[in-house]
Amino acid sequence: MAKKTDRLPISQSRKFILSNDTQFAIKEAYKTARTNLVFSLAENEKRIVVITSCSPSEGKSTNCLNMAITMAETGASVLLIDCDMRKPVVHSLLRLDNKTGLSSVLGGIVRDVSKVIDRNVRPHLDILTSGPIPPNPAELISGSKMDQLLELVGDHYDYVFIDTPPANVVTDAFLLNTRTAGVILVIKEGHTTHDEIRECLDKAKMTNCRILGFIKANCLGKSTKGGYKYKYKYKNNYYKYSEYK
Ligand SMILES: Nc1ncnc2c1ncn2[C@@H]1O[C@H](COP(=O)(O)OP(=O)(O)OP(=O)(O)O)[C@@H](O)[C@H]1O
Ligand SMILES: [Mg+2]
Repeated sequence: MAKKTDRLPISQSRKFILSNDTQFAIKEAYKTARTNLVFSLAENEKRIVVITSCSPSEGKSTNCLNMAITMAETGASVLLIDCDMRKPVVHSLLRLDNKTGLSSVLGGIVRDVSKVIDRNVRPHLDILTSGPIPPNPAELISGSKMDQLLELVGDHYDYVFIDTPPANVVTDAFLLNTRTAGVILVIKEGHTTHDEIRECLDKAKMTNCRILGFIKANCLGKSTKGGYKYKYKYKNNYYKYSEYK
């Protein structure tokens, strides 16, 4: 039976995007995730990171954007690519125009990617929205134009974060493996099952894809007096792959 996904209207989803109003504990959790990510990439030349999850609606887009924002806060130049050309939301979360974007470049409609990148959406953070939904996202992602694009942005930006569709549903996230540093898997507390995680890790292994770490989303914070309460209702935790094994 399909699981209930509880998708919120976009106006409510925007409140999970980091801002000046975000709770301290949430910002700190993302900073910890950032530190762990920086260390896991230290010896890797490509700082292109794919964000995915096992199933729909587990917080990929929210966490991709928040990781990109948190990284850009260090002063590093960051690009977020909305590579979910099936159900793109990054443009809606940020109120950006999406008439052109990634699909326009990969489809050959726009030659110069710099013309479709939204600059400084937040300080040091640029965004490449998905563009119009194409009929063949997996083919576009596997094509040579995607290679060229990632080569170009990998040279230009300090970090590139790529939002993707769920990995147990479509192959898009793992199609990027040879051209990126690896994948961060978002796990939704109380929702993602061990079987789903196992299936996803098997897929990663089969495609030689490196799992950089996990973000546990929608965690309940632990009360200092014992027991659980909604102290950090939206706290996220980052785990290294080695901690999971
Ligand atoms: N920390 C959170 N706590 C509660 N709800 C959240 C949290 N983060 C995101 N959500 C909500 O969960 C839903 C899914 O989030 P999001 O779009 O980031 O997931 P997704 O994995 O990218 O989904 P899709 O598979 O459709 O691409 C949205 O309605 C969003 O508002
Ligand atoms: Mg998404």
